[in-house]
Amino acid sequence: MIRKAVIPAAGFGTRFLPQAKAMPKEMLPIVDTPTIQLVVEEAVSSGIKDILIITGKGKRAVEEHFDGNFELETELEAKGKKDLLREMRRISSLADIHFIRQKEMNGLGDAISYAEQHVGNEPFAVLLGDTVIDAPGKPITRQLMDIYDHYDKTVIGLEEVPKEKVSRYGIVGGDKIRDGLVLIRELIEKPPVAKAPSNLAIAGRYILTPKIFEKIRKIKKDKRGEIQLTNAIQLLLEEEAAYGLRFDGKRYDIGNKLDFLKTNVEYGLRHKEFGVDFQNYLTDLVKSFKTKK
Ligand code: UTP
Repeated sequence: MIRKAVIPAAGFGTRFLPQAKAMPKEMLPIVDTPTIQLVVEEAVSSGIKDILIITGKGKRAVEEHFDGNFELETELEAKGKKDLLREMRRISSLADIHFIRQKEMNGLGDAISYAEQHVGNEPFAVLLGDTVIDAPGKPITRQLMDIYDHYDKTVIGLEEVPKEKVSRYGIVGGDKIRDGLVLIRELIEKPPVAKAPSNLAIAGRYILTPKIFEKIRKIKKDKRGEIQLTNAIQLLLEEEAAYGLRFDGKRYDIGNKLDFLKTNVEYGLRHKEFGVDFQNYLTDLVKSFKTKK
């Protein structure tokens, strides 16, 4: 059974500079909600209440977001803003959230290694703090947990990407077990198109077994100075099986500027209060752009 989730949120966010210089990219809003709150909510709605967030330099805002804010709550109470007050209290009691600081940003594998003491000898979920996955049915983490419950082994969320973009992702190759489920044979971080075993990309959601910690310790830094989780899972394959689930859902990587903009447009269009107004605005805007051409 999976009881704990680890959310790495300590990275530099070089793809989102200058914004990420002093403000964590995981706090970037999707309309009005920080990305990492949606990630925590995915873990909670998957049935996980114990969450460890890996933070680091310049990430204090993440801790503050999940903490109570007595002054703000008193102010909202005095002004009779009951709905907002309820929402602020809901956020600070979403889950049992713990924090640990990654001392140096040495990559995702290194970030995960900081969770060893907290998770102990249990399997655990990993949700990247800068990636939201919108799923029509069950949350993705829950979908992966269901596969874990069946096989008791590592499970990785996979997304199909256009063949020409494989070199941006960690890519897996394997044998099809059934539609959407593969037994993983190899994992390659950012392969050139010609060397990619498939177009199935690792999509920011994992169920890992505690054996991963011993494998991470064996991985050396790559050319970029990072300890890659992908390489540790590849090493794990010598001893344990791992499965990949091509999930039903759409991934939004907030750490990439264009994806961030697209995410806000899509969530804005679906917004209960002003989605229709926003759609009208965008339609007019597009028309006026076309006329100007
Ligand atoms: P990314 O692969 O997006 O790396 O991390 P990054 O360093 O944050 O961003 P770029 O590539 O420089 O733009 C995926 C997730 O893993 C966390 C990040 O915070 C992000 O949520 N991470 C990454 C860590 O916690 N520690 C690290 O050393 C690297």
